[in-house]
Amino acid sequence: MRTVTVEQDDLQGNILAAYGNDFAHALYAFVKIEDPLAGRRWLGDLVGDVRSAERWSPKPHQTLNIAFTADGLQALAVPERVLDTFPEEFREGMGTAERARRLGDTGAGAPEKWETGLRPGHFNVLVTISAQRADVLEQRRKALLAHISTIGSGLALAYEQPASLITDSPHGLIAREHFGFADGLAQPSIGAKGLDPRSKAGPNRRDGQGTPVKRNRWKPVAPGEFVLGYRDENGVLPAAPVDPLGRNGSFMVVRKLEQHVASFTRFLRKAANGDPELEELLAAKIVGRWRDGTPLMQSPRRPPRPRKKDDQESIDHINNFRYASDPIGRTCPLGAHIRRANPRDAFSPWEGLLTKRHRIIRRGMPYGPVPADPAVEDHEKRGLMFVCYQASIARQFEVIQEHWCNDGDAFGLGGEKDFVLSDEDPDGTMSIPGCEPRFLKPRPAFVTLRGGGYLFIPGLAALRALAAGI
Ligand code: HEM
Repeated sequence: MRTVTVEQDDLQGNILAAYGNDFAHALYAFVKIEDPLAGRRWLGDLVGDVRSAERWSPKPHQTLNIAFTADGLQALAVPERVLDTFPEEFREGMGTAERARRLGDTGAGAPEKWETGLRPGHFNVLVTISAQRADVLEQRRKALLAHISTIGSGLALAYEQPASLITDSPHGLIAREHFGFADGLAQPSIGAKGLDPRSKAGPNRRDGQGTPVKRNRWKPVAPGEFVLGYRDENGVLPAAPVDPLGRNGSFMVVRKLEQHVASFTRFLRKAANGDPELEELLAAKIVGRWRDGTPLMQSPRRPPRPRKKDDQESIDHINNFRYASDPIGRTCPLGAHIRRANPRDAFSPWEGLLTKRHRIIRRGMPYGPVPADPAVEDHEKRGLMFVCYQASIARQFEVIQEHWCNDGDAFGLGGEKDFVLSDEDPDGTMSIPGCEPRFLKPRPAFVTLRGGGYLFIPGLAALRALAAGI
């Protein structure tokens, strides 16, 4: 594959090159444009603040990025003939009844139960602010709200969600999600020149993060899998709207996923019969990694703690593993979260041929307080603002969510679903093969969807065109 140069000055930041763990705070501001002129005026004022993917020096105190649902583009009076050039799943949105059924967004997570402000039609723009410090975030938030009220009618804040990193590692390289697992580790390596080297998804040929190929090697993923206007893994340009929207844009999935930490902890304790070592083993079998991030495929037995090194090299190392040597899942269950979400070479003997077109770049952040005792129900709301980027929501996020997490067929698991992500089911099972096979059952809801949407995150030239009236 030819390594291409991505137009960093036009691409919005945090898509290919991660802002990184120094930005410990974020605000997701969901806005509703109701009047095209108000929307364009606001966007015109804001566009100069939008952070591109260009390298910075020094690091800014805060960054701002902006994305639109299909309704949002319509609210800016983008003509139908232009909207028609967007993919169908984006135009329909995340909360249609049929899509919800396929994605497993049913029961307590059904669109009609989503939080006010996060339901289909309640918002049509997402502004994401990332900041190094909480007080800087608060200042920027106030400025954003003041600006929205200055514009007046035709523009309103629909919902806001603050989020912050949970990190207890000495160098801040490893962050956690609320169940206590290291998160944000595995990201695709991208075959593009000029990406910010601090990025986890970067130009470096990091073994374990690209596509597994023959002779135990790994190939970086083509940038067109994530950014419109560049060749994808099929060697062609991904389906995209007309220019200028089709250049340096990406599609974004946002899901507010509430995590029921006490329920997860109590379930594990009960299943392990009070044996703390078995409890940790079952947790690792459900996710595919131990809580410190070490994959079962590298360490079938609990790794020694604390991790000796917490640096980029050791993070690179813990992403370098495959599944083909473990065809029936005795080491890492076929239904473990990370094995479902990126089966790597599990569909052997095709190496990464069947998985390379279903990768996502994850950029989510936890929200809500860390529980004082994970086994005690404190009735606080907490979870993950799940965010991912891709060139095709249907081929990437939806295949992972619908076919790999919300179904077991692809792995020979029948109707077994992702045990950590799926809704409550008295018959829900997770099979854990081994000398002493185990079956976890019934499946409580550990995670509940509270709202979100499918968005388009345009390049900067496209943003200026939208503000001017396309
Ligand atoms: C609250 C919900 C979720 C939790 C607690 C969670 C937790 C985790 C953890 C602990 C990891 C391993 C660490 C890492 O590589 O970053 C991981 C990896 C991953 N997750 Fe999730 N996740 C959640 C939702 C999702 C969703 C909705 C998707 C997509 C449909 C997803 C896709 C992935 C992918 C693609 C990986 C990387 C797998 C790899 O490349 O090895 N996750 N997740």
